[in-house]
Formats: sequence, structure tokens, C-alpha cells
Amino acid sequence: MRIDIITVLPHLLESPFSDSILKRAQKKELVEIRIHDLRNYGIGKHKQVDDYQFGGSAGMVMMIEPIANCIEKLNSERDYDEIIYMAPDGETLGQKTANELSLKENLLILCGHYKGIDQRIRDHFITREISIGDYVLSGGELAAAVLCDAVIRLLPGVLNDETSALTDSFQDGLLAPPVYTRPADFNGWKVPEILTSGNTKKIEKWRQEQSHKITEEKRPDLLKD
Ligand code: ADE
Repeated sequence: MRIDIITVLPHLLESPFSDSILKRAQKKELVEIRIHDLRNYGIGKHKQVDDYQFGGSAGMVMMIEPIANCIEKLNSERDYDEIIYMAPDGETLGQKTANELSLKENLLILCGHYKGIDQRIRDHFITREISIGDYVLSGGELAAAVLCDAVIRLLPGVLNDETSALTDSFQDGLLAPPVYTRPADFNGWKVPEILTSGNTKKIEKWRQEQSHKITEEKRPDLLKD
């Protein structure tokens, strides 16, 4: 998979991709991440990328030309399965969307800033708009990093134990059961006995029961579907 990200703050996106699982995924060539500095497509001497909005209102808007030029250049090099705009008014990111996107070959992600981007970009280039929740961030970069993390960890070979993404919360519409590690007894706080019984069938049954119980308690809305 290849993911191209267009941003005015490329440095903000360096750290999420240079550690841990996302770093390893790139090293193993399971994903290629390319960050594109929109400023390189800016207009005039000052490489302008934003301007006052028509109709007059507070806040700058990201201009159409730098974004259109950048997208058109990238589009001429490969076919993108989706051109995604990170926006608080997009569809809310869930595991289903992450699963779906993990099956694609080429994704292009545009990070917004200021009051947003010229609507014509959304109308003519964007194929999907994704929000990471009902709150407004200063820009789309952190949201793009969240989306990439959720997608990349699903690519085959990225996680050491390939089954571990399958047992994540939400994968089967339920929250994951509790997990424990050594010591089995910490100052009298004991690990559920079943987990140290060695009876794998009973352990699996216990985990399923716990998943249902926790989902009922914390997220009963998930059981409605
Ligand atoms: N940009 C600003 N806020 C955002 C959000 N909640 N999700 C995605 N992109 C954003």
C-alpha cells in the first residue's frame, strides 16, 4: 500500500511514522508513506496557500490552486483508490472504514487548516471525507496520523502476531475482553483463575462472555446492530 499525504505542516507528521509499528511497516516495505509539503505548490514569492474568504467572514481558507496543482501532479503519477479529506464534518472513522481502506492500494490524504479548504476542491477532487470525532482540531494532520495508524496495523504482516488485529476491540462488533500478565497475584489482586487453568476451550468461552459483558456495560449501542 502507498499513502500520500498533503499538508502545510510536514514536520507534524514525521514523528507518528518514525516509531514503533508504523516505522516497522515501512521498513518491511508493507506500506510506503510520502508526505508532500503544500507550501511547495504555493502562489507567488511568498508561496501563499491561504486567502481571505469570499463573502467576508473571519478566518482564512486554503486556496484552490496550490491544492489542485499538487493533487493533479500526484494523480498523473498513479491512480488513487480514494482521495480523502480529513474534516470534522466528514463520516466518522470507525473500524469498518479502517478495514475497508486497508484493502486499497493507493490512498491520497489531504489535511485541511484554518477555516477549511475552497469548496471546489471538495466538489471536484475529494472522493471521501473522514472525521475522527465530533471535535475540531487545529488541522487535519493528527487526524490523518490516526487514520493511517488504524489502517496500517491491519495490513498483513505488519503486526507480529497476525491474529492480534483480529482480536482487537470492534473487529467483531464487540469490545475486547480484559487481559492480564504476570504476576498472577499482585498484593492479593488475583488474575481470574480460568486464565491460568490451561483449558483453552474454557478460556475462549470466558473471553467471549467477557466481551459481551463489557460491551453491554460500556457500549450497549454496539449490540443494537
Ligand atoms: N480536522 C479538524 N478537525 C478534524 C476532525 N475532528 N477529524 C478530522 N479532521 C479534522
